[in-house]
Amino acid sequence: MADLLAAVDRYLTDHDGQFLEDLKAFLRIPSVSADSRHKADVERAAQFVLAQMRSAGLTAELVKTAGHPIVYGHWQDAAGAPTVLIYGHYDVQPPDPLDKWVTPPFEPTIRDGRLFARGATDDKGQVLTHLKSIEAWMNSTGRLPVNVKFVIEGEEEVGSKNLETFLTERKSTLAADVAVISDTSQFAPDIPAITYGLRGIVACEVTVRGPNQDKHSGVFGGAIANPVNALAKLLAGLHDGKGRIQVPGFYGDIPPLDPAERQRLAALPFDEAEFLRELGVGAVWGESGYTTLERRWARPTCDVNGITGGYQGEGSKTIIPAWASAKITCRLVPNQDPKKIAAGLEARLRELCPPGITLEFSGGHGCPAFAFNPTSRYIAAAKKAIAVAFGVEPVMIREGGSIPVVSSFQSQLGLDTLLLGWGQNTDNLHGPNEHFHLADFRRGTRASAHLWHELSVLG
Ligand code: BES
Ligand code: MN
Ligand code: MN
Repeated sequence: MADLLAAVDRYLTDHDGQFLEDLKAFLRIPSVSADSRHKADVERAAQFVLAQMRSAGLTAELVKTAGHPIVYGHWQDAAGAPTVLIYGHYDVQPPDPLDKWVTPPFEPTIRDGRLFARGATDDKGQVLTHLKSIEAWMNSTGRLPVNVKFVIEGEEEVGSKNLETFLTERKSTLAADVAVISDTSQFAPDIPAITYGLRGIVACEVTVRGPNQDKHSGVFGGAIANPVNALAKLLAGLHDGKGRIQVPGFYGDIPPLDPAERQRLAALPFDEAEFLRELGVGAVWGESGYTTLERRWARPTCDVNGITGGYQGEGSKTIIPAWASAKITCRLVPNQDPKKIAAGLEARLRELCPPGITLEFSGGHGCPAFAFNPTSRYIAAAKKAIAVAFGVEPVMIREGGSIPVVSSFQSQLGLDTLLLGWGQNTDNLHGPNEHFHLADFRRGTRASAHLWHELSVLG
């Protein structure tokens, strides 16, 4: 077995340049799932993944959905060995604001040992680590030590709307022992991590309407409610002075944090000053009684993501605007029900709405949070593989972001997921100048290659 692993490692080193070229080609495709003008590009990215799977030696197909296609690939000739379901996404977030990119988002460029492009870390670079580790095993040893099934979708960044149907329709095809996803981050540079919990999410939009059109604020101001003023009041009413969210039933289902877990989180080498420096912010803010890591990973939030209304042009314009609207998301923790939270949020906004203003509330879709047992034997296997590739054992963390499929894997397929993030939270995912460290691309690919071995020798 040591010989086989050595051959795989050699393949990885020998093909380093080619892997990078393939990643760049992947990143040149602007597969922005949220933007219908990029539909053909999203399809091209799916074709790219399909070709990568086939050249790695998998049997692969494109599965049509009501939205963007899912790429499914598998290899199942490792009789008696475990089966691993690997998930990732080939779609990316919109690249704006474009003027903030040092080099264009879809022209991958290397600077300071990092590859800059939209999707570099989220999630194309991380997806490719697994495809390349499979290619390495197949081409250097002729086989894989485990059975693999790949599901690479194109709608993660827009909420994985059509994935649920695919999972239910192909339940038996997708049967596996454990799932693996690389779509999270390391704890910090050179501190790799295994993530055992993610927050859920619920997304809504609220629109408030006043007069039937914009009206002169001198003639009518003071006599009718102003929709922008009203919206500001509604949104301000979502938190109290201690950062507690003022939505009925919001905290009711949440068990208190486990004291042992709080100790483990407190023992992580979190550098709050560096965290603030990186963000360009002078102080932390949040729910009182919790640490920054607890607030980010294990406590729920309610954030306005965007707000629109009234005159936004140059100079002043004296109007009572006809309407205003806001996009709101809540990050959820285990046991919170997205539907219930959305209903509570709507009730709270209606309660705060002044007379003469009508309120429309839409959305309310999302996914629940989860936290796995951080001591499974699959985690033990992943720890070994990561220690080989990164030269240090990973720490066990939770994260604040959401990956909708993880809870579906749990509920639909009864699977736990190994969340093995090769990226960094400072890779600017979703923002301008997103990048992936070349060192992390290499280490991630090597850890992936070793993971297949470690899972095959599980006790
Ligand atoms: N890869 C991220 C999620 C993530 C990033 C988790 C970093 C942990 C650390 C994923 O692509 C993402 O952005 N998810 C969305 C989900 C939403 C669109 C339903 C999110 O978290 O906002
Ligand atoms: Mn992602
Ligand atoms: Mn993302």
